[in-house]
Amino acid sequence: MSAVGKSANIFWQECPVGKLDRQKLLKQKGCVVWITGLSGSGKSTLACTLGRELHSRGKLAYVLDGDNLRHGLNKDLGFSAEDRAENIRRVGEVAKLFADAGLICIASLISPYRKDRDSCRSILPDLSFIEVFMNMPLDLCEARDPKGLYKLARAGKIKGFTGIDDPYEPPLNCEIEIQEEENGVCPSPCAMAGQVVGYLEEKGFLQV
Ligand SMILES: Nc1ncnc2c1ncn2[C@@H]1O[C@H](COP(=O)(O)OP(=O)(O)O)[C@@H](O)[C@H]1O
Ligand SMILES: [Mg+2]
Repeated sequence: MSAVGKSANIFWQECPVGKLDRQKLLKQKGCVVWITGLSGSGKSTLACTLGRELHSRGKLAYVLDGDNLRHGLNKDLGFSAEDRAENIRRVGEVAKLFADAGLICIASLISPYRKDRDSCRSILPDLSFIEVFMNMPLDLCEARDPKGLYKLARAGKIKGFTGIDDPYEPPLNCEIEIQEEENGVCPSPCAMAGQVVGYLEEKGFLQV
């Protein structure tokens, strides 16, 4: 008898083709690049630029963007702490499948709570969860406000907005931190993506 979560009588089905076989086929190692940060910090910009850069190098990557996933898989979820946790849990599970498929999975979500991000890290094989912290000041994100959400949050029209009236818990031990240069200038999207590509190269993810 085997019980998993709410289900009884569940057994693991082994498949003949494994992760290593797929990695050889793709000439890369599956992993998750998890981009976290405030709304407007540049997560989607980095995810897209990184995705394009990897594609141009012949590497298979796929972007899981928080906003896009809320159009489908997570459209039944809101922004309460419980729903945010479930949102992250589901994306973590999907990212794990993509990494197991051999892809470089780029997940870009605010993912404000440390505990939820750490849960995702814990379900992935060692070293294959790469947390990228978009360490941009709230002032900058708020000045950008590309969707006008900070304005609405400041006016009290959006409740529980991360950075305004809901907390953002910065990572304590992330693999990569992206921040403003000494002169207070934000690195260009290409420079941000270059920082991540450099890490992936150095750690051997772009080859088998
Ligand atoms: N490195 C950057 N340099 C200049 N502008 C940027 C940079 N990254 C993002 N932006 C701009 O900031 C805004 C927010 O970026 P976005 O990627 O949508 O943030 P997020 O996905 O974190 O909410 C966009 O208008 C984007 O063009
Ligand atoms: Mg975004």
